[in-house]
Amino acid sequence: MERNIAMELVRVTEAAAMAAARFLGRGDKNLVDETAVAAMRNVLGFVRMDGIVVIGEGEKDEAPMLYIGEKIGDGSEPKVDIAVDPVDGTTLTARGLPGAISVVALSARGTMHCPRNFVYMNKIVTGAEAKDCIDINAPVADNLNNIASAKKKRVSEITVVVLDRPRHEKLLRDIRNAGARVKLITDGDVSAAIEAALPDTDVDVLMGIGGTPEGVLSAAAILCIGGAIQCKAWPRDEKEKEAAVKRGEDLEKVYKTNDLIDTDDVFFAATGVSSGDLLKGVRYFSGGAQTQSIAMRGRSGTMRWVDARHNFDKLQKLDFMKYVKERRWAQS
Ligand code: FBP
Repeated sequence: MERNIAMELVRVTEAAAMAAARFLGRGDKNLVDETAVAAMRNVLGFVRMDGIVVIGEGEKDEAPMLYIGEKIGDGSEPKVDIAVDPVDGTTLTARGLPGAISVVALSARGTMHCPRNFVYMNKIVTGAEAKDCIDINAPVADNLNNIASAKKKRVSEITVVVLDRPRHEKLLRDIRNAGARVKLITDGDVSAAIEAALPDTDVDVLMGIGGTPEGVLSAAAILCIGGAIQCKAWPRDEKEKEAAVKRGEDLEKVYKTNDLIDTDDVFFAATGVSSGDLLKGVRYFSGGAQTQSIAMRGRSGTMRWVDARHNFDKLQKLDFMKYVKERRWAQS
């Protein structure tokens, strides 16, 4: 793909973030999600592409918009697979907590693979310096020692970001026993994975169990940044495990970055919804809003941070922002 679609994708995540951030701290997770989905879908429809949603809001029957298999874009070339998470951190947004982002990734048609039979995967993510020395099957202490030596740091100078969940009790014990630092987050492991992969951030590695679709979205960003992700299916209970075995699934399979997205023809964009360590959240002013986004392209490895100022009066006169006029969040 010759065109850098990431720049167009920024408009998509900006629209979703501006719509969702209206409801920051208002306690309604569903409203945050619905609003972001509608805004995202509207702007995605104007992107010059022939897209199919591979990671979306669920199966067609349960998701009226951005469902898996939905065709989206203006129908022109290129043919692409699309992964969306209109808000990664709906709970964060509903509670007014930091770190929620809106996310979209695209890759050449047929290259995005989501092991969707599993809701969760165990993940390890790190950046370019240590990408060849992680092994999800190795003990936690070995991974941390290897990452530390690849980064020319002591283990006590390595920070591991982990979702704060009871299922991570043993993982946390192992990390602490190895002598590394821990950053606990309540939600949002796509943003955390990006931070782990980027150089010069507060975290060196992400470890632990999170959503499967979020793993694929993270892989898109990691392909652009140059780090690595490894994942393994994590069945929630015996029933899920037995069903997987019956289907003939290999629970020991390690999904590496290219098993999730099998090309460097990949584009990624994210916009901050609530302010976090990666991106600033949406700030409204009279008649408009400011956003901060990141746009990346796998083939070139270019990453752009985009600060934008949006004028709602002018935007309402443009076709692609029709939804601003039509939807109630414009008036709220
Ligand atoms: P939201 O549904 O609130 O957007 O949460 C997203 C998230 O925190 C992901 O970032 C993460 O992969 C997943 O949920 C973890 O799942 P769970 O909250 O069930 O542990």
